[in-house]
Amino acid sequence: MLKIKNLEVRYGSIVAISDISLEVEKGKIVTIIGANGAGKTTLVHTISGLLRPKRGSIKYEGREITQWSTDKIVAAGIAQVPEGRQIFGDLTVLENLMMGAFSIKGGNPEGIERAFEMFPRLKERASQKGGSLSGGEQQMLAFGRALMCNPKLLLLDEPSMGLAPIVVTDIFKIIKKINEQGITVVLIEQNAKLALAIADYGYVIENGRTALSGTAKELAENPRVQEIYLGG
Ligand SMILES: Nc1ncnc2c1ncn2[C@@H]1O[C@H](COP(=O)(O)OP(=O)(O)OP(=O)(O)O)[C@@H](O)[C@H]1O
Ligand SMILES: [Mg+2]
Repeated sequence: MLKIKNLEVRYGSIVAISDISLEVEKGKIVTIIGANGAGKTTLVHTISGLLRPKRGSIKYEGREITQWSTDKIVAAGIAQVPEGRQIFGDLTVLENLMMGAFSIKGGNPEGIERAFEMFPRLKERASQKGGSLSGGEQQMLAFGRALMCNPKLLLLDEPSMGLAPIVVTDIFKIIKKINEQGITVVLIEQNAKLALAIADYGYVIENGRTALSGTAKELAENPRVQEIYLGG
């Protein structure tokens, strides 16, 4: 579904990604694990068309999308839940959801119903300002908003960040549920333990490079992964 080859991305003279190659098979959960500064968010932004690579290619459903606009990429079915959630704090929960349907003519009323069904908490708080929600509720809102464009591929940038363990457990159940509904998931995480527990396949990126890859089981059993990412 997604095939990235020899990607290089820079911010001016700073090389954030020097050489990343990876593949995401349709219907799977693929996790990308890496430490702070490894290039994870840069990768998500490049897939979404917010950054242009200096080198390399990104193919989605067989089409080269490397130079596509973000609008076109979203319309083709790729959505992201950004790092730090990026909720519109002054807009209501409902308005935040509606923003996610910008690419769909006539909005997406069924999408709102689906979001409220999946996240009853959001329905209860539909007219509340996004900024007044708890961290976990904001993350649910960010998920709901991303689903509003009816994506086929969902990019999640550290969804567990800053959340209490019990909330993280809920979020990971939701990720599983979304995947079971047929949406392919790319899960960026520093919480390697949880990520490898739900993923089918994984990549480890270090200093802007693909360092390791394998099934989630292979990675979880890899001594290097255990030492660096699973706390020994
Ligand atoms: N706007 C920018 N200008 C210059 N350098 C940047 C910019 N954004 C990121 N970088 C650099 O690119 C590298 C990769 O950053 P990136 O945000 O992609 O990492 P990350 O893996 O998402 O880290 P984290 O886990 O902290 O979110 C880092 O060295 C970072 O300092
Ligand atoms: Mg990041």
